Amino acid sequence: MTKYPKLFIFDLDGVITDTAEYHYLAWKQLAQSLGVTIDRQFNEKLKGISRMDSLEKILALKPELLTMSMEEKQQLATQKNEYYKTLINQITPKDILPGIEKLLKEIQENKIKIALGSASKNAPVVIDRLGLTNYFDYMVDAAKVKRGKPDPETFTVAADYFGFAYADCIGVEDSAAGIEAINRAGMFSVGIGDSEHLHEADYLVSDTSQLNMDKIIEKFASK
Ligand code: BG6
Ligand code: MG
Repeated sequence: MTKYPKLFIFDLDGVITDTAEYHYLAWKQLAQSLGVTIDRQFNEKLKGISRMDSLEKILALKPELLTMSMEEKQQLATQKNEYYKTLINQITPKDILPGIEKLLKEIQENKIKIALGSASKNAPVVIDRLGLTNYFDYMVDAAKVKRGKPDPETFTVAADYFGFAYADCIGVEDSAAGIEAINRAGMFSVGIGDSEHLHEADYLVSDTSQLNMDKIIEKFASK
């Protein structure tokens, strides 16, 4: 019998909508205020990881900043989130990336469960603004995840909620940390992006318009 998946777990930022760009712009603005310049290449390391882990990576670019107190770090992380929140205020359903809603609809029609596995504490708000809340059977609460990506916890928590075997799950990600997390969970990984950063994905597409449910399931079944 052909292997058929029970659950799709979607990352949010950079997969469902282009908030990965907003995270980048917000970090760039914060970094600038600290006298640090970051570029898109460096930003690849920030994708998928938590707010505080991202801040630590930026501070490490200027070693004298690393001596900052935890309170100061918290203030900076909050500041970045304020920049970010002003950017996501503008989000509407028009910001859903190409092919994503069609894919969610098809998965739902085929009675496969859908979960959101994002590291972002802003995820439920963004999904709501996009008008996609009804597609999700479960959303992982980023605030409750102890070990962020590349640890598999974000993905295993979703599978455990349904009681599904990890081998029956498919994770969709745009970050190297996320692909590593899915692979370490023993799930099938779908990457969106380029092979320079996402070469470990089981199946890679260049952008969301290339995502096709039957094709993904075919690849999953033949792994
Ligand atoms: C991830 C993003 O989804 O969420 C990261 O890829 C971001 O860039 C992380 O830092 C945490 O998000 P937030 O909204 O809680 O700061
Ligand atoms: Mg992402």
